[in-house]
Amino acid sequence: MKWIGWDEKYATGNAGMDQGHKRLMSLINELADSMERNAPKEFCSDILAQFIEQARIHFGHEEELMDRLQYPRAKEHKTVHDAMLSDVQAFKVSYDASDASEFITLLVVLDSWLKRDIEAEDTALVAFAASSPHSIAPPNS
Ligand SMILES: [Fe+2]
Ligand SMILES: [Fe+2]
Repeated sequence: MKWIGWDEKYATGNAGMDQGHKRLMSLINELADSMERNAPKEFCSDILAQFIEQARIHFGHEEELMDRLQYPRAKEHKTVHDAMLSDVQAFKVSYDASDASEFITLLVVLDSWLKRDIEAEDTALVAFAASSPHSIAPPNS
């Protein structure tokens, strides 16, 4: 099952950053697919761990860029990242500890968080970086 598909409306203006978003979306699709075919719990948990790891790396790159540019919306943008990571981590802890799998809830949360981050915060960050006199290439993951 393809849960979330790439669309040009998610293009931030930076190809490297878009690649990172495509990787995150592809892990969400892998999760949705595994859920649909009732894959073993350890398998789903492992994809979830990969998503958390990739998201942490991706957010970290964006946050380094924000720090270097002294980006005025850094606090708000980091709040979006932190909320998404803590939601997914909390889900993983409860998923690993119980038999209940509310994956559909997680997918809805991931979908909306990711789109919100990409469409609002990341796009604004790329525009700011491009107009900055200290312009630095945005992260590529
Ligand atoms: Fe991003
Ligand atoms: Fe972001």
